[in-house]
Amino acid sequence: MPLEIDEESDGIAEVKQANKIQPHRAIDDSSDIQQNSFREFLIKNRGYILFVLTSMLLIYRNNLQPLNFLIVIILFFWAIIRLIARTTIFSKGELSRDKPSLKRKTKIFSLVISMFITFIIVSSTLFLNFSPQVGGDSLPYEVSPNFRDGTFHNLNPTDISSGNVSFLELLVQYIVSDDHRSPNIPLPTKEFEKLNLEADEISITWLGHSTLLIHTNNVTIITDPIFGEDNMDPLFFGPMPFIYQHTYELQDLPEIDYVFISHDHYDHLDMGTIKELEDSEFFVPLGVKAHLLRWGIDEKNIEELDWYDEINISSELNVALTPSQHFSGRGLFNGDTTLWASWVFNLNDKSIFFSGDSGYMEEYVTIGEKYGPFDIAFLESGQYNEAWNNIHMFPEEVIQAGIDLNATTILPIHNSKYELSLHHWDEPLERVTAEGERRNLSVATPMIGESFVLGKTIPNRAWWTNVSDGPDLFLKDNLIVGVIVVPLNIVSIVWIVLSLKHNKSLNRSIEKVTNSEEE
Ligand SMILES: [Fe+2]
Repeated sequence: MPLEIDEESDGIAEVKQANKIQPHRAIDDSSDIQQNSFREFLIKNRGYILFVLTSMLLIYRNNLQPLNFLIVIILFFWAIIRLIARTTIFSKGELSRDKPSLKRKTKIFSLVISMFITFIIVSSTLFLNFSPQVGGDSLPYEVSPNFRDGTFHNLNPTDISSGNVSFLELLVQYIVSDDHRSPNIPLPTKEFEKLNLEADEISITWLGHSTLLIHTNNVTIITDPIFGEDNMDPLFFGPMPFIYQHTYELQDLPEIDYVFISHDHYDHLDMGTIKELEDSEFFVPLGVKAHLLRWGIDEKNIEELDWYDEINISSELNVALTPSQHFSGRGLFNGDTTLWASWVFNLNDKSIFFSGDSGYMEEYVTIGEKYGPFDIAFLESGQYNEAWNNIHMFPEEVIQAGIDLNATTILPIHNSKYELSLHHWDEPLERVTAEGERRNLSVATPMIGESFVLGKTIPNRAWWTNVSDGPDLFLKDNLIVGVIVVPLNIVSIVWIVLSLKHNKSLNRSIEKVTNSEEE
């Protein structure tokens, strides 16, 4: 039967070419490698490449970065699968390595995914069990009324996840990202300057998140110290700290006499910083001592306390460990085996409260009655979300906590250093100051690194409102890019459709040629 193909048609040359290699091509034909060169790949897939690039650009311009992250992961796996398809793995019975069957593709995909999941599980498990950063294993504290069935408990039963937001809602919230969860430029900060103090004055310096330097002429204390510019543990993908205009090093501060830790989460207890402070005295909630011991801190320099334990440290300084509503843990299997807490300091006859991490709790009234009124309360105000509102306070609750504690002034902490939740980086400061004004409670908002004397001045400049979002980003903000990206995306789709149609007719022609040859 004569071959019924128009010799003038576009397809004939390609049919002849394709017929040379299809469908009985030898698996180890080296011409495959040449034909599938990178250049040829780009030309062959130009429609798809343009579609992926313009789609990713559209996603980027619409603040859906996690979707782009997902696309990159899918492309990565797709490339790995294609590379493996070129080897002899699972190729038994296959006619061509260049066109793996669906069965072979599925086998390769399963292999790659299982290897990837195994790698993640094994490396995380090894790290979270054996890395020194995870800390030590604390002993059971049967004597504590807060320790039951192998773990510590909040005063009232508390679910870490509130159940107010479904997993799907949370996922959507996460995917619909925006530019303001962290600042786009280095945050304006102040260089640390040690103040000259009168005999009984107290200097306070907030160094970001929950790190506070408090000193008199005789005593220097620090809370939840985290220094360095590394990402937050536990793994290499932990959040990076925001970039500050100034960097703070322990050696630039007065010598630290006493270190107070609220709980063992990584954004409050940092192995590197603790090691640097090895000559200081440490005061920690029950169980946290095990971490410090593993990091080489001398046992005689560590004091462990339970809720409402009090210690007279010096003639100027008395402290009490007080409750918070939170949880603890650094590894896979040690959740809630160490206690979480807030601290009360009585320094030079001034009362100071440090909340650590906490959801709003009625116990603030009790703490206020027992140790208040407070001259200042450092209250966590940041990293809140409806999904976990039992363990972190909303800014409005922060003000209520300040009122419950009978605090003259509150200072919002636990913000402006890490992006651990979904709110804008400056929202906690905005909301807490607005609510403070509404409820008539004084809110101190020093810049990071700015020192002030307690009771003398209350820094309250809204320093965060002058922070620009940084220069326009060409790909994100440029008008011309915005105008051409949509038409280009449409062109890429048309290109793909035409290419698919072309391939279909080409395959039909190949089939005809093959059939006629066989006949
Ligand atoms: Fe925490």
